[in-house]
Amino acid sequence: TAILILNGPNLNLLGTRQPDVYGHTTLADIEAMCRNKAKALGVELGFGQSNHEGTLVDEIHAARGLYNGIILNAGAYTHTSVALRDAISSVELPMIELHLSNVHAREEFRHTSFLSAIAVGVICGFGAKGYGLALEAMVGHLETAG
Ligand code: DQA
Repeated sequence: TAILILNGPNLNLLGTRQPDVYGHTTLADIEAMCRNKAKALGVELGFGQSNHEGTLVDEIHAARGLYNGIILNAGAYTHTSVALRDAISSVELPMIELHLSNVHAREEFRHTSFLSAIAVGVICGFGAKGYGLALEAMVGHLETAG
């Protein structure tokens, strides 16, 4: 079993970016934590980040055949991108939508997600810990689905 964690725009700046909202944990810290968690769960892990919508689309396409599920923190593209939604629908891989912050407690424009309707589930508001929760949730989903 292999799971891809894909991060969208501005998440490369985690640690210094609005720490009051997103915390002090860097994306490298999160990746290390996820690699430990994946090892403990007995699954392979891919981990990526891009600031570019088309690159994220390409990475979702490339995931087909390599991964069994995708955990996607699409950042701001969550609220704007039909292309990312279509990419996920096209590869037919189960996807968990993830956000560090509780998007529903923030600005109105963050309350809308193009991804939620095609997600297995959504995790938001638990900060960096959400990544570990999402990994557990995906492994559990794949066990019952497959
Ligand atoms: C985010 C929430 C989005 O609204 C925002 O644009 C981000 C990060 C989160 O992880 O909380 O870039 O996805």
